[in-house]
Amino acid sequence: MTLSGKTQVIGIFGHPVSHSASPAMHNAAYSDLDLDCVYVPFDVEPGRVGDAVEALRALSIRGVNVTVPHKEAVVEYLDEVDPLAKKMGAVNTIVNRDGRLVGFNTDGPGFVAAIKQDFGLDVSGKQVVLLGAGGSSRGIVVSLLEAQVASVTILNRSVDKAKAMAESLGDSRLSVCALTDTLANDVLSQADLVVNTTSVGMVPDTQQSPLQDFSWVQDGQCVYDIIYSPAKTRFLSESEQAGARISNGVSMLAGQGVLAFELFTGSKCSFEFMKEQIEKGMS
Ligand code: ATR
Repeated sequence: MTLSGKTQVIGIFGHPVSHSASPAMHNAAYSDLDLDCVYVPFDVEPGRVGDAVEALRALSIRGVNVTVPHKEAVVEYLDEVDPLAKKMGAVNTIVNRDGRLVGFNTDGPGFVAAIKQDFGLDVSGKQVVLLGAGGSSRGIVVSLLEAQVASVTILNRSVDKAKAMAESLGDSRLSVCALTDTLANDVLSQADLVVNTTSVGMVPDTQQSPLQDFSWVQDGQCVYDIIYSPAKTRFLSESEQAGARISNGVSMLAGQGVLAFELFTGSKCSFEFMKEQIEKGMS
């Protein structure tokens, strides 16, 4: 890679950021497509988000991805936020358009693309069940509604938190239920797609699962976990043993990356290429 005054600088804001798969994924794609761009991780302390966003203008940085814990905090410093990202209340991609900073969120759309890639499932008209009602869940719900799903049921440990999210989104296709409700198994068994968006099962709690009972699983039902480390959570392995088709969050990471790549560079890169880079970095 040769850097010059013409090289476009792109990056990611996070804290910590050293674990991020994005630099390797984007830099490999620039190299593959012969683009004069470089992707840099920036560790931004929580109190410095405003300064970091302002620096994008001062340094003519082309754009950045935004990861934990800054996705919500960056919103107030931007000149414009895309309507979907506004609904999600979170931005994961900032594009610098001649000094005007525009925020997008490619996490939810990346998830919808991943479901199509992994399962061949077009979510339009489908019944979806999500476990969890945090920030990741909200992004996915907004994108599923946008993609014309028939219904989304949010199962959460704290049903009040799920209710608050559903009320704030105000869509008749949304309903909520407690994770431990006796009706949960009926709802789960009728779903075309079941998604874990909670952090339960992530390293180091790999023996944990948000559900204990998997008797609801139908043969061939699509079950997804947004966690990718470990690659197969207990939730996924139990679902698979009960007959489900399973996939993990690597594809969502690739999907959001492909969409952000296009926003930054105006060029397209393939989903498979991005996924390969992430898997290379994990092996
Ligand atoms: P994120 O922004 O990554 O989605 P979050 O906002 O902290 O993370 O949300 C975490 C989600 O995981 C929540 O839905 C949380 O449930 P509560 O709203 O009841 O707290 C869920 N979660 C976390 N630990 C859990 C556990 N041990 N069992 C069930 N759900 C859990």
